[in-house]
Amino acid sequence: MTTQFHDTVLSDAALDQLFNEARTYNGWLDKPVSAPQIERIYDLMKMAPTSANMQPGRFVWVTSDEAKAKLKSCVMEGNADKVAAAPVTVLIAHDIDFHEQLPWLFPHTDAKSWFEGDEAGRTEGAFRNAALQGAYLMLAARSIGLDCGPMSGFDAAALEKAFFADSPRHKINFICSIGYGDPASIFERSPRPEFGRFNVVV
Ligand SMILES: Cc1cc2nc3c(=O)[nH]c(=O)nc-3n(C[C@H](O)[C@H](O)[C@H](O)COP(=O)(O)O)c2cc1C
Repeated sequence: MTTQFHDTVLSDAALDQLFNEARTYNGWLDKPVSAPQIERIYDLMKMAPTSANMQPGRFVWVTSDEAKAKLKSCVMEGNADKVAAAPVTVLIAHDIDFHEQLPWLFPHTDAKSWFEGDEAGRTEGAFRNAALQGAYLMLAARSIGLDCGPMSGFDAAALEKAFFADSPRHKINFICSIGYGDPASIFERSPRPEFGRFNVVV
């Protein structure tokens, strides 16, 4: 039996923490993120859905000064100080050959065979699902009291050379700093569209 929560709505405080008050941070308080917190984020994130449970995300958590310096040289100028100052920046990549893992990740059917010989389909599926995993990761981080600063301003080829030279089938998706956000580092909230603007119910 699995627990269901059909009668449960998260508290306003929880929704504020995850969505309404959560912001994208550019600067960080001088407060570390621990290894158990990093594992907790992953352990929450991995429970959220991916297609055929493919779990294509591959994650490099940049925490050391050496790795931060390497990362700094791969990002756009405006992001350089942000990744240098963040306690952690996670590189969210996806494995184009995720299908090799499907025999144990999706054991009730031969899902590996769906993707064999279809690199274009795997690339599309890996990108879509790892981007989802990156979004889940941000919500997981927020759910344990941390803040996020996602970024796509980097040189993908340089970043892959610096961090994925030994795994050339891993392609960078986006990167995300994580820590305790410095409220002095954010701009005013940008407008969000009202429901009617970008939604139709048919
Ligand atoms: C995938 C992604 C890539 C982003 N890339 C950058 C970036 O390279 N540099 C940057 O300063 N902000 C970047 N942002 C931050 C967005 O501008 C920010 O999340 C958005 O304006 C919402 O801000 P808010 O959460 O504070 O409302 C990125 C956000 C996402 C989700």
